[in-house]
Amino acid sequence: MSGWVKVVGLGPGAETMVTPEVTAALDAATDIVGYIPYVARVAPRAGLTLHPSDNRVEAERARAALDMARAGRRVVVVSSGDPGVFAMAAAVLEVLTPADDTLDVQVLPGITAMLAAAARAGAPLGHDFCAINLSDNLKPWALVERRLRLAAEADFAMAFYNPRSKSRPEGFAKVLGILRDACGPDRLITFARAVSTPDERLVTVTLAEARPEMADMRTVVLVTNSLGRRAGRFVYSPRSVPAGPDPAGTPA
Ligand SMILES: C[S@@+](CC[C@H](N)C(=O)[O-])C[C@H]1O[C@@H](n2cnc3c(N)ncnc32)[C@H](O)[C@@H]1O
Repeated sequence: MSGWVKVVGLGPGAETMVTPEVTAALDAATDIVGYIPYVARVAPRAGLTLHPSDNRVEAERARAALDMARAGRRVVVVSSGDPGVFAMAAAVLEVLTPADDTLDVQVLPGITAMLAAAARAGAPLGHDFCAINLSDNLKPWALVERRLRLAAEADFAMAFYNPRSKSRPEGFAKVLGILRDACGPDRLITFARAVSTPDERLVTVTLAEARPEMADMRTVVLVTNSLGRRAGRFVYSPRSVPAGPDPAGTPA
């Protein structure tokens, strides 16, 4: 039988949020490759080899997956959420060679953290939005700040991945300062932690009330656009933006 690689997203945590297509790929696999906590989400069984690895070895992991597929193995590369969102899909495509044109490689979508969190909160991303990874592991911090300022200036609703880690505790405090300057103190910000797991916790506050400690590496942070408001326990960015001067304050 010829080998293949499927790069899949396991969703934010709950078994019910793993798509049937991804479950079928896991059932058909001979090998599972990925970051240790994500591989741990796959149940061991006879005939299945698990290959957990550290999160700093993405390219090596991708090459190993392709090597196994070339040798006839059926390999699933796992990410959390969606594999195309700050995850393994791009890492695998980066190490494909022209000789792999005939290799069976597929990317299978998953429910990404911001969408699972937005649904829990209501619809904070209900109008135009953007997603920014706040980690400066794979890009310069200056670029994080530039994209943040431009997104806020353009009045996008925003989702922030990897907001705060022990190795860069001061970055998220800077982010909150930039947001307060650009969006004002009353803008609504939601901290959604460990969505769809037993540790899930959601809190929505204003930017004036937001504190860096409200986020950690298991949190995705959502900010409404300038028209964002509450509806009971929900928060949303409305479906439309009226014509006329930009509600964020920049001239139309
Ligand atoms: C390396 S990124 C991977 C994103 C993943 N590919 C996705 O689509 O959700 C890891 C970040 O995703 C966010 N994240 C992942 N799972 C989450 C969950 N269940 N609840 C809240 N945020 C989550 C956090 O911001 C975390 O720091």
